[in-house]
Amino acid sequence: MLGAQLNTEPATRSPLLPSTCTATIPNRRALITLFSRLRTSDGQSDPAPFYARLRESGEILPAPWGGHLVNSYRLCQQVLKSRQWLVPSREWRTRDNDASRWNSPSFLLMNETLPMQNPPEHTRLRRFLGNMFNGGVLDSLRPVIQRAVQRQLDHYMNRLREGPADFVTHVSEEIPVVTIGEWMEIPRADYGLLRALTHDQVYTQELFPTASEIEVSDAATARLRFYFADLVQERRRKPGTDPVSLWIQRWDAIEPERDTADSTIHSIAIFMILAALETTSHLLANVVRLLLEHPDQLAQLQENDELIPDAIEEVLRYDAPIHMISRVAAEPTELAGAAINAGEIVHLMVGSAHHDPTHYREPHLFDVRRRLGGPAGHLSFGAGIHYCLGSTLARLEAEVLLKALLPLPLSRLQIAAPPQWAPRVAFRRMTTLPLALN
Ligand code: HEM
Repeated sequence: MLGAQLNTEPATRSPLLPSTCTATIPNRRALITLFSRLRTSDGQSDPAPFYARLRESGEILPAPWGGHLVNSYRLCQQVLKSRQWLVPSREWRTRDNDASRWNSPSFLLMNETLPMQNPPEHTRLRRFLGNMFNGGVLDSLRPVIQRAVQRQLDHYMNRLREGPADFVTHVSEEIPVVTIGEWMEIPRADYGLLRALTHDQVYTQELFPTASEIEVSDAATARLRFYFADLVQERRRKPGTDPVSLWIQRWDAIEPERDTADSTIHSIAIFMILAALETTSHLLANVVRLLLEHPDQLAQLQENDELIPDAIEEVLRYDAPIHMISRVAAEPTELAGAAINAGEIVHLMVGSAHHDPTHYREPHLFDVRRRLGGPAGHLSFGAGIHYCLGSTLARLEAEVLLKALLPLPLSRLQIAAPPQWAPRVAFRRMTTLPLALN
C-alpha cells in the first residue's frame, strides 16, 4: 500500500536541480537513529516527540535512504491531492535502481492491488467499485456490527470480572474481522486465519522490512492467494448476493477474458481484507485507550453522546492507524524549496502532520470538541484519488462500539498495564491493551 521499502543509499540528486531546502537538517546519522528508535515498541508508545523533532528540522527533509520526508500538514495534503504525484506502482518499482528487491511474492501481490495503481487503471477500478459502503450497505451492516459489538463486550466484561484482560484480542480485533467476514460471506471458522495472515502480510508495506520479515510476508501472501482463488472459484460456481459474486457478475459484463476477470477480483478481495482489519482494529483500540487516558474527555462524551462523531475524528487525528504514505513525483518539481526529480519518492509523515501546530490549535491536546469539520480535518484516510474506500465503514464500527461502551460503568475500567506496540513506522499496531475493573 505504501511501497515503502527503500534504497538505503543517500539520494542521488540531479545536478540541474540542487535542493534549496533551507531547514536545519539534522545529519543523516541523527535521522537514522531517530527512525531506529521510532521503530521500536517504546518509540511507538509515544511517537509525538520524534515527529516534533522532524517538524523542527523542516517541512521537508532529505530522507537518509533517498527521497524526502514531508512533515507538515500543508505539504502532506498538497501532495496527496495533486495529480503530479503518483503511487510507487509496478512500473516505478521496475525502474528502481534496486528493482530486484521488489521481486518477492508479497511485493508482487501489492503491485496488483488498487492503491498501487495510477490512472488510467486506477480510475477504471474506482469506477468499477463505486461507493462500496453507501448508505444502503451501511444500513444492512449496522445490525451485524451491533451484534458483534454486543457479543464481544458481554464476553469481555465477564472476563474482566476474573481479572485483567486484553481489549485488543477480545474486542478490537474481533469486530473488524466479523464485519468484513459477514459482508463478504466468509465462513466464521476462517476469521482467525485471515486475521493472522494480515498481520504477517503487512511487513511488506512497512519501512525497511528485514529478509526474515519478507519471508513471513511471502508465506502469508501465498496462503492469502490460495484462499481467495478458491473463494472466487466457489462464488463462480455458486453465485450469491455477496460482493465477490456481484463483482464477478459485473466484471464479466465488461471483460470477456475470464482469467483476467478472476485475477482482478482476486486482488480486490485480498486487498479488502488487508485494508480493513489492522487499521480498524487500531481505531477501535485507540478510541478506548485515549478515552481512558483522558477521563475529562470521556466524561464530556458520557454527558453528551452527540459528540461521538467528533470524538472519532479526534482519535483519528490524534493517532492515525497509518502514519506514513508514499508518493513519487511524475515530473521534476519543487516542494517547499526542495527540488525533486521525476520518479523520486516522498514519504508523507501523516502522524507528524496531525500534530503540526501551524495547522491545529494545541495539537498535543486530545480534545473531543475539536470539531475537525468532517473528512477534510485530517489525513487518516488519505486524500485525493486514493481516498479510503472503507472510511464510512470504519467510522460506523467506531460509532457502534462507542454507543455500546458509554452506558457501561467506565469509571470502574482502567488501563491495567501499558499497551504494547508492534515495532513499525507506517502501520501502527497496538498488540495488547490490558484493562481491568477496579
Ligand atoms: C480506520 C480504518 C482505516 C484507515 C485509517 C484507512 C486508511 C486508508 C488510507 C490512508 C488509504 C489511502 C492510501 C494511499 O493514499 O496510498 C486507504 C485506502 C484504501 N482503503 Fe482504507 N483505511 C481504513 C479502513 C478501510 C476499510 C474498512 C476498508 C474496506 C473494507 C478500506 C479499503 C481501502 C481501499 C480499497 C483503499 C484503496 C483506495 C484507492 O487506492 O483508491 N479501508 N485507506
